[in-house]
Amino acid sequence: MTSPEHAVSVRDLRKSYGSVDALHGVSFDIAHGETFALLGPNGAGKSTTIEILEGYRDRSGGTAEVLGVDPGTGGTAWKARLGIVLQSTGESGSATVREQLTHFAGFYPNPRNVDEVIDAVGLREKEKTLIRKLSGGQRRRVDVALGIIGNPELLFLDEPTTGFDPEARRQFWQLILGLKEEGTTILLTTHYLDEAARLSDRAGVIAGGALVEVGAIDEIGGIEARTPIVRWREDDRLHERRTTEPGRLVAEIVARNDGAEVPDLEIVRPSLEDVYLDLVDRASTATTEEVAR
Ligand SMILES: Nc1ncnc2c1ncn2[C@@H]1O[C@H](COP(=O)(O)OP(=O)(O)OP(=O)(O)O)[C@@H](O)[C@H]1O
Ligand SMILES: [Mg+2]
Repeated sequence: MTSPEHAVSVRDLRKSYGSVDALHGVSFDIAHGETFALLGPNGAGKSTTIEILEGYRDRSGGTAEVLGVDPGTGGTAWKARLGIVLQSTGESGSATVREQLTHFAGFYPNPRNVDEVIDAVGLREKEKTLIRKLSGGQRRRVDVALGIIGNPELLFLDEPTTGFDPEARRQFWQLILGLKEEGTTILLTTHYLDEAARLSDRAGVIAGGALVEVGAIDEIGGIEARTPIVRWREDDRLHERRTTEPGRLVAEIVARNDGAEVPDLEIVRPSLEDVYLDLVDRASTATTEEVAR
């Protein structure tokens, strides 16, 4: 098999559900070993994109290559190289956690050790429990366990941590960082921007079926959007200024007030969430203007 340059390559991807145009021309690449986050509001087209790449959904147009194969025609050998955690699964489970994982491990040529996976997702105490008797968050951990049991080269995670408690989310991050270290390529969607910032190398922001931004996770949105903001009260007024040298600005304010404490002083470094909200807001404003024209 040829070794393609990218693990995932998508050009002008389109999808219509009847009269609904869910994707109109999405293009991006994911390098081998990279973690790429697809971010966007509800209904933006994230799951549609991922499910086309997994071979779960047909596309209406464009090209896609996943591990060198067109996902529309990928066979079982190709599927065995993928790990998939769907946004929602029909997993009701009349098997125990251990039985289910052992069963699925049997489908793959080179599975992970079942015990290691149970520990990695924090289900040791529930390994003998029927899946249908697990809590929502515990069941989601089973989904993640099933996604990685086959030791995939490429892992698709569609909102994997929805329903996780904060501790489980941190544990999941450790798991993903470990997989990254082993060289696994990961395509992730999440509405938790701190999660995207912690785990991803690059991100694409999708809104209304189109990519509005792609770039390194600490660069998307541009320099301006990431410049720290200093806020303070002076002369009975609230001031706000963006500056790359907040320390210097604060020193100046303190100096001209004879060293007195500055009321309401804060330095805010825009988070990925701030940058993301700004991008999505700009995208929806642009669409509204287009419609109005
Ligand atoms: N099976 C379907 N039939 C018809 N329309 C669909 C179907 N699946 C998705 N859509 C529509 O396609 C658009 C994109 O949906 P998609 O599930 O890809 O969004 P998403 O970005 O994953 O959103 P979320 O964050 O809510 O999971 C939405 O407008 C949705 O209503
Ligand atoms: Mg979705």
